Amino acid sequence: MPPFVVEFGNVGRKPEPDGRLDAPAFHRNHEAIWSVLAPWLLAQTGEVLETGSGTGQHVVEFARKSPGLVWWPSDYNDAHVKSIEAWRRHSDLPNIRPARRIDLAAPDWGLSADDSKTLRGLTMIFCANVIHIAPWSVAEGLLGHAAGRLKADGRLYMYGPFMRDGQHTAPSNAVFDSSLRAQHPAWGVRDITDIHALAGRSGLYLTDIVPMPANNFILTFERTPAA
Ligand SMILES: C[S@@+](CC[C@H](N)C(=O)[O-])C[C@H]1O[C@@H](n2cnc3c(N)ncnc32)[C@H](O)[C@@H]1O
Repeated sequence: MPPFVVEFGNVGRKPEPDGRLDAPAFHRNHEAIWSVLAPWLLAQTGEVLETGSGTGQHVVEFARKSPGLVWWPSDYNDAHVKSIEAWRRHSDLPNIRPARRIDLAAPDWGLSADDSKTLRGLTMIFCANVIHIAPWSVAEGLLGHAAGRLKADGRLYMYGPFMRDGQHTAPSNAVFDSSLRAQHPAWGVRDITDIHALAGRSGLYLTDIVPMPANNFILTFERTPAA
């Protein structure tokens, strides 16, 4: 099975008996992602929501490095929610809340009334490698609701492969895009121009684009335009 398919456990280490899954990409990308998030994030307090947390390995790694922040992991896939919970318990970290089931494409993300009230005024929302392995409605849901859940100076960070001005940034991303679309016609590597336009309609401004290893990017969105 190709490594980008979200069936963690079919690639990488076998699932642990407690349900912890392993994503090989996590081991390759977490240090580089943290090096971009940390300078701003470590100066913040408050709560961080991760959407599409997958195995839960990023949230554990990042929460360990930021004891002053409270992390809320989430996913819409029940096996992934189970893995996140298993990683959370295994980590024994006090600053990770129980995994939420969030479907970014659902009205109000499918949040319970209590969670909808709680998950407001967030310092940061982090979303890695989700919107290309999902229909465009997931990008619409993420960007459509993020501004309303962030505090005034909060930020949304998105990590993954993106096109720029209608062009793939590397031949390998073009191959990846074709294989995604072959699996599901509604999937595919998204263009930063389209994401920028979508964000603008939702009260978010794209304030930074950081090239990352392996032809990925981190996009930063804020509720006020860059000065
Ligand atoms: C490739 S995995 C990335 C997981 C993790 N963020 C990482 O970088 O290792 C994509 C994740 O997006 C989740 N996902 C897909 N559609 C979603 C949706 N509508 N709402 C929330 N999560 C979704 C999948 O369940 C999966 O865990």
